[in-house]
Formats: sequence, C-alpha cells, structure tokens
Amino acid sequence: MTDLDPYSLAEEASTVLTDKTGIANHDIALVLGSGWASAIDEIGDISAEVEMATLPGFPEPTVLGHRNLIRSLKVKDKNVLVLGGRAHLYEGHHVDTVVHGVRVAVASGCRTIILTNAAGGLNPEWPVGQPVLISDQLNLMGQSPMAGPAPPEGKAIRFVDLTEAYSARLRQLAQEVDPTLPQGVYAGLLGGAFETPAEIKMFAKMGADLVGMSTVLETIAARHLGAEVLGISLVTNQAAGMSEENLDHEDVLEAAAAAGPRMFSLLAGILERL
Ligand code: HPA
Repeated sequence: MTDLDPYSLAEEASTVLTDKTGIANHDIALVLGSGWASAIDEIGDISAEVEMATLPGFPEPTVLGHRNLIRSLKVKDKNVLVLGGRAHLYEGHHVDTVVHGVRVAVASGCRTIILTNAAGGLNPEWPVGQPVLISDQLNLMGQSPMAGPAPPEGKAIRFVDLTEAYSARLRQLAQEVDPTLPQGVYAGLLGGAFETPAEIKMFAKMGADLVGMSTVLETIAARHLGAEVLGISLVTNQAAGMSEENLDHEDVLEAAAAAGPRMFSLLAGILERL
C-alpha cells in the first residue's frame, strides 16, 4: 500500500522503470490484450525486459493469456514500451490500478498509446480472427478514472474531452498498413462473466460493434494526460447468441494465437510508421 496519489505513484514507477531499463524516455506504449503476446515476440530489438510486478503499483496478473513482462523495444528510432499484460476491473482491482500502466507510460514520455484487446464481435460479417480499429467507445463499466479525488496540481482537470477518444490520424495510419481494416464501437463491460444473448441484443441497439472487458478506462486515462490513442480489437468470437457456439476463454485465447502472424505484421507496420 502507498499514500501516494495515483499520478505520483505512476511517476515513481516510471523512475524505477528508467533505473531498470537504463532508458530515460519512451515514445510509444503498446498494451497487449488477451492472446496478443505472441504477436510481439519478433518485433523490433529488445533493449530491456522488466517483471511488471517489480515496479511500484503493478499487481501480479492473474488472467490466463497475459504476460507479466514490460519490454523496451527499439523500432527504427523510437523506444517502444510493451506492456505484456493488464489489470482488469473484474479482477477486483481499483480503477487507478487498472489504468496505472497507461499513466506510467505517459510519465515515461509516451505520447502515443496503442491498446489491444480480444473482443466479441456483434457484426456478423466479421469472422473470428478479424482485427478491428476502435472508432469510439461505450464505457459501460460504471466506473471512471476521472471519478474520485481531483487530479493533483499540474495535471489537467478531470473533465476530459472524449470527442476524439480514438485518434482519427492513427486509424488512418493503421489503414495505410491494412486498407481492409474495418472500424467499430467498442463497449467496455465490467465482465467477469461473458454476456447473455439478451444483453448483446441491447448493446447492439446501443450502437456497439464489439464487446470486451478492458480498454475503455485506459483510453480515458490516456486522453486525460494528453496522449493519442489507437485501439485495436481482435474478434476472437461472435458475441453471445450470435452463433451456435458457446463462449469459452480457452477458445478466445486459441483464436487470438491463430491470428498471431496477422497481428504481428499489423503491429510491426504501424510501429514503423509512427
Ligand atoms: N465478451 C466480452 N469479452 C470478450 C469476448 C466476449 O464475447 N470475447 C473476448 N473478450
């Protein structure tokens, strides 16, 4: 436990990260969602590797498919901070813990945050294995990183503008790498359990194209600190009730692993253009 406010805790973690990696400044952060870890193994040159939980404020990841590593990569002239896992609200973490990685990345200099996740697809035209650019979000988690004590002096006030939560510029750049990439609205749910078919019908009416259990809080925290966000979902299954299949976390991971090579070239192409 710590008495530090979450922003100071992020700055402390960033200082320890610099000590451990020997790299004072990073440019881009890449957060890997369920099953995305395999995609990163061959991108860039690894400059340093740190166990996430050895940095202040990071919990041990408990979710299968997430890796407990932060990696510093050199991609062309950029230092890329790869977070091999994330904390979820459904694990019982505080919202400040869920967005800690993003705040540490920004404290370390990252002005671009790439958030990846596994998601259920609501668009019947999207096959399993389809990457989708997140165009906008529905935060249905009932929590926000901007609720609670006001941000400390020197940070922007809490009322962050989310008109362009996901950067149009970065989406366009991703489409230069793969012009076939579709876009969609990501609904972020507390989760823990998958959704019911009735819930999926409701979310479809609300404008959701994708459902998942992460990302939306991190996006709000990143925008608050002025970073640009690119969000990419990998459709690992059709959402509940949309196919004959029942939902299973193992299948989600399997679908993500099978999509690894495509995700690898997509991420590599994006990082090279940033
Ligand atoms: N629902 C919520 N989260 C998910 C899903 C889903 O269908 N697939 C992968 N993550």
